[in-house]
Amino acid sequence: MPALGVGTNRWDTSAPGQGRLRDTLSAAVDAGMGFFDTAEVYSSGRSEMALGEAARQDGRPVLLASKFAPLPYRVTAAQFASALDRTLQRLGRESVDLYYLHFPYSPLGVAAWMKAMASAVQARKIRAVGISNCNVAQMRKAADALARYDIPLAANQVQYSLLHRKPETDGVLGACRSMDVALVAYRPIGGGAIAAGSPGGSGPGLALAGTLRDVAAARGATAAQVALAWLLKRDGHVIAIPGATRPEHVRENAGALSLELSEAEFAAIDRASAAAPAAAR
Ligand SMILES: NC(=O)c1ccc[n+]([C@@H]2O[C@H](COP(=O)([O-])OP(=O)(O)OC[C@H]3O[C@@H](n4cnc5c(N)ncnc54)[C@H](OP(=O)(O)O)[C@@H]3O)[C@@H](O)[C@H]2O)c1
Repeated sequence: MPALGVGTNRWDTSAPGQGRLRDTLSAAVDAGMGFFDTAEVYSSGRSEMALGEAARQDGRPVLLASKFAPLPYRVTAAQFASALDRTLQRLGRESVDLYYLHFPYSPLGVAAWMKAMASAVQARKIRAVGISNCNVAQMRKAADALARYDIPLAANQVQYSLLHRKPETDGVLGACRSMDVALVAYRPIGGGAIAAGSPGGSGPGLALAGTLRDVAAARGATAAQVALAWLLKRDGHVIAIPGATRPEHVRENAGALSLELSEAEFAAIDRASAAAPAAAR
């Protein structure tokens, strides 16, 4: 897995200004971040379709991850299987590299959904199994359920950025480390606010923006690159998936892969981020 991928939740070929999604995908593959994150619910399936189309046009091998949404009316293995089949159809693939349970809020527990995941692995429709928005207890339940089928839990995808450091305090980052599970960080640049230099707007939020700007200027980098490099340095289990529809954003974000922050830079950003107000996180 590359340490950086691309979030595609806004990919939609019918939306204005999205005529370059193939270039966006190609830019990511060129930069060694050919790992794309989608879900059946993104743009009502059109994200999966746009991603499948761009991957076909590019033609090179890419890793694709998608997600099953356990909506309240979905309670059977058959519903899971047909949702996965529709995802594969939209992606134009016979299998998906990583398939997540999108969230744990479901009349069926996480463990029951892992049984459905295991059947899909056995049917070779899924190569790896993940969960998303799960706490430590749910991670353990998922891992235990999968272990019965000799399948490792590959990833927990949660919100994690300099503006949202909850995985450090709720135990999820620690559990990813001890269970050897990838922490896939969504919204890693605060929905674009960090890249725009406006995390929080005032007070300590501005201090974070200032620190990112200073480090960026000293390293000939951008705030987005510094923020992503910080996440990757924080722990080797972190994989960040900044969302991007534009190729120039992907190229910029890829610069984080070769930006090694010094311990002093890392600590200064850590302090500025920890001081940012709750509203800015
Ligand atoms: N599991 C979950 O429940 C969950 C929830 C939310 C998101 N996600 C996943 O995580 C991915 C990332 O989260 P996100 O998209 O919400 O937030 P994000 O990655 O923090 O920010 C994405 C936004 O930042 C902009 N951007 C990206 N790189 C930039 C750069 N270098 N300079 C300036 N702007 C830049 C993008 O613009 P352009 O589009 O114009 O390129 C987009 O508007 C999503 O795409 C999705 O796959 C998962």
